[in-house]
Amino acid sequence: MLADRMKLIDASGIRKVFDLAARIKNPINLSIGQPDFDVPDVAKDAAIRAIRDGHNKYTQTQGTGELCRRVADDLKARFGLVDPPVLVTSGVSGGLLLALMATVNPGDEVLIADPYFVMYKHLTRVIGGKPVFIDTYPDFHLTADRIRPHITERTRLLMLNSPCNPSGAVMTQQEIDDILALAAQHDLLVLSDEIYDAFCYDGPHASACGRYDKVLLLKGFSKTYGMTGWRLGYATGPAQVIQAMTMLQQYTFVCAPSMVQAGGLAAMDLGMEEEVAGFAERRDLMYDALKDDFEIVRPSGAFYMFPKAPGGRAEEFVAEAIKNEVLIIPGNVFSERATHFRLCYTVDRDQLLRGAEILCRLARQMR
Ligand SMILES: Cc1ncc(COP(=O)(O)O)c(C=O)c1O
Repeated sequence: MLADRMKLIDASGIRKVFDLAARIKNPINLSIGQPDFDVPDVAKDAAIRAIRDGHNKYTQTQGTGELCRRVADDLKARFGLVDPPVLVTSGVSGGLLLALMATVNPGDEVLIADPYFVMYKHLTRVIGGKPVFIDTYPDFHLTADRIRPHITERTRLLMLNSPCNPSGAVMTQQEIDDILALAAQHDLLVLSDEIYDAFCYDGPHASACGRYDKVLLLKGFSKTYGMTGWRLGYATGPAQVIQAMTMLQQYTFVCAPSMVQAGGLAAMDLGMEEEVAGFAERRDLMYDALKDDFEIVRPSGAFYMFPKAPGGRAEEFVAEAIKNEVLIIPGNVFSERATHFRLCYTVDRDQLLRGAEILCRLARQMR
């Protein structure tokens, strides 16, 4: 009954943890990859108003005129892009699928930093591409030197993700520029997933946008405005790629939800500094609580940490943690290695401290 491609992917390990979690009454849930703040009222009001005013039909495939113009203005202000082509997508996930469908032929190689966001591997495989993993342990920094040996005749696309899910690593502008220079030498398309750009704690976000003519930028509203359920993002990049993605959107997603586009437009006027500062504090709190008992890199962005499990035995450690009602995700969900685990500091201070105490106790026992 099923197509062969379904054999190339399996159920996300994150789901397995969620299933286990459902059986625990009051877990300390450090597996939630979304902010704990709600959508700002301004955005809610705009979405509700859009519904009431009858904006409930298909929008243009590429997104409403207002939102596309607002995004283009933002791209001009931030990166100096003049009239960039914009496609409003159903989340960055929608953009990723369209981008890979539009650019990767069966058998083409896609360079992916390991550890990686789960979708990169699975979507690449579903469309017939070959994920090629670039190991970035132990510091999780993707550099041109690490990428170079993996480039072959079949390399088509390089994925960047800064800040990174699951490591929280943030790339410097120099690292990005060096990588883009390498990509230019080999005429590679670079897909830069900058969904966590608002969540940078140790300095301004460095972007790949506008620094090489074959950069495809994907940005999202999910994390910045706490609207993961609303499904909104956008893409900009080489006109040919954006046109192809727009055509594919016409035959798949059709358009991003109309009222969500209105809500997202209103959200773009808001500063989220206060919420982001709250995450910076939690990053510090959690890092300080874990650093003596774990091998752990201090993350600079997103809301994840990727510590090494005691003895590098992640599955065993995660099973122990879940038994003790702390939900974390084993690293093999995000990696070809099974040595680390991901935790999200998206819950309140109290739960973070209780969770850290349990994890540290288990780590001391398992050493
Ligand atoms: C790196 C990365 N890219 C994309 C996404 C998907 O985001 P969206 O909700 O915009 O589809 C996520 C969500 O966790 C993510 O971590």
